[in-house]
Amino acid sequence: MFRTHTCGELNLNHLNQKVTLSGWVSVIRDKGFMIWIDLRDRYGITQLIIDEERSDKSLLETARNLGREFVIQATGTVIERASKNPNIPTGEIEILVENLEILNESKLPPFTIEDKTDGGEELRMQYRYLDLRRNPVKNKLIFRHKVAQEVRKYLSDKGFIEVETPVLIKSTPEGARDFVVPSRMNPGEFYALPQSPQTFKQLMMVGGLDKYFQIVKCFRDEDLRADRQPEFTQIDCEMAFVEQEDVLEIFEGMTKYLLKEIHGIEIEKFPRITYEEAMRKYGNDKPDIRFGMEFHELNDLAQNKGFEIFDKEELVVGISAPTLNSYTRKDIDRLLEWIQRPQIGARGFVWVRVNEDGSFKSSADKFYSQEDLAAFAERMNAQKGDLMIIMAGKANDTRKQLSALRMELAERLELRKPDEFAPLWVVDFPLLEWDEETNRWHAMHHPFTSPKPEDISKLKTNPGEVRANAYDMVLNGNEIGGGSIRIHDKELQSQMFELLGFTPEQAEEQFGFLMNAFQYGAPPHGGLAFGFDRLVAILDGSETIRDYIAFPKNNSGRDVMIDAPSPIDPSQLDELEISLKQ
Ligand code: AMO
Repeated sequence: MFRTHTCGELNLNHLNQKVTLSGWVSVIRDKGFMIWIDLRDRYGITQLIIDEERSDKSLLETARNLGREFVIQATGTVIERASKNPNIPTGEIEILVENLEILNESKLPPFTIEDKTDGGEELRMQYRYLDLRRNPVKNKLIFRHKVAQEVRKYLSDKGFIEVETPVLIKSTPEGARDFVVPSRMNPGEFYALPQSPQTFKQLMMVGGLDKYFQIVKCFRDEDLRADRQPEFTQIDCEMAFVEQEDVLEIFEGMTKYLLKEIHGIEIEKFPRITYEEAMRKYGNDKPDIRFGMEFHELNDLAQNKGFEIFDKEELVVGISAPTLNSYTRKDIDRLLEWIQRPQIGARGFVWVRVNEDGSFKSSADKFYSQEDLAAFAERMNAQKGDLMIIMAGKANDTRKQLSALRMELAERLELRKPDEFAPLWVVDFPLLEWDEETNRWHAMHHPFTSPKPEDISKLKTNPGEVRANAYDMVLNGNEIGGGSIRIHDKELQSQMFELLGFTPEQAEEQFGFLMNAFQYGAPPHGGLAFGFDRLVAILDGSETIRDYIAFPKNNSGRDVMIDAPSPIDPSQLDELEISLKQ
């Protein structure tokens, strides 16, 4: 038997018991006549003690030959510690060792395996198996496991069944590029890895499974960011005989359940705003509503006062940043530089100080009287000590730029509190968006999303105005889930493919299987998918999903531990009948 207990469970209740522990050597302290070893496993750290008086001489010698991260087995008696460590559960006891076995030696690890390590990101990724031994990393995976368990429990209790869908499939259009896999048995042909199980879950509804879910890997070849990985996990769900309201209710319920189970937080009802309102109020379809700084449009107040920069623009819009009147001219100049960086690309902004005595001072004082500025302040609900920031330009661009500034200021003012949770639904997304590059309509969610019945008549005349039965769940400024009511009618689905620029042949070639299925009694259905990695990270107060994935990819999509992707053997290429461009 390798162990009677783990390294995390012994305390004064176990005094005088003979125990065996196995684990890794974390720290060795050698005082000559006495040696202490911190023995670590997943469950914690237990101190071992070997001394001249009470232990066999050979034990001291064995202990002196140990190195960090050696795997050992120790048998001994639980005794009370002379100097206790209140910071760990086992801190009141230690093990007086009677027998010590080295189960395996270890090379010196390339970084220290402690909560605060000296290892840089790249090195830790290369030796991720060592990184996993560290509490901050391990605890995140345990947290992920706990969320997965709760999700499974909630959905199973609601009658959902977990069904696995294939990984070698045909392309599913979720808007990213596919990862493809060549087929040896069908030379020249390729599978695509699923960007999501979208079509399969719809087919399962045709198959009468009624309520499906799956915690499932999805693959998207897209540019990576802190909240994106090329392979990530979804909580993918679909339900038959439902309307939008039914779907929202189940998944609002799931999110409430998670917040309650995990953080003890109770949220009554999630706010809902339309896509249009989200864009107007926050310039963003995934607004962080933990703080205010909402947008206020000022065209009627700010134009036609002789300030040309504002006069000719489509939109004049501002936010009032709390306490920011404390910014010096230099600070404001730096903020201007920040917003003029190519990533944001704004031309600039007008600022207005709201002074403690109720007066205003602005960068456009020449054009605006104190009364004008007071009207701005009233519209924006600006308080004394605030700094109003006003931008103008094309509506969409300006909103996007001001949204970036709003988030940056919230970050600087520490208004994005990781332990505060503000979920909401964004509903009524447009069905289509115009793509300037390809000069075509694109499905904003995906091509299977149903238009709102009352807007179907506009599909032919005014497609840009058609709203979809689509919804996103947003948590703390992150899109954690999205879905829609689907089209279940073959005719409407064909019309949709046509609008998206598919010829009937292309639609048949790519989605014939779905259109066929729709001819055999497809029930009304809908669903959604949560980004599981994102959900877990945000519930844990972080926005970096990589930390919640056991073996993540780096920003270039590489796994630096196993060194993938990598070239393959020419014989494999031959077998696949693939030749590489020289
Ligand atoms: P969507 O494309 O919105 O919808 O994806 C659902 C959720 O998955 C998460 N997500 C990601 N997480 C990490 N890395 C990525 N690269 C990544 N891409 C997406 C997001 C997102 O909200 N089939 C539809 C769902 C449906 O209609 O039912 C779909 O996949 O949190």
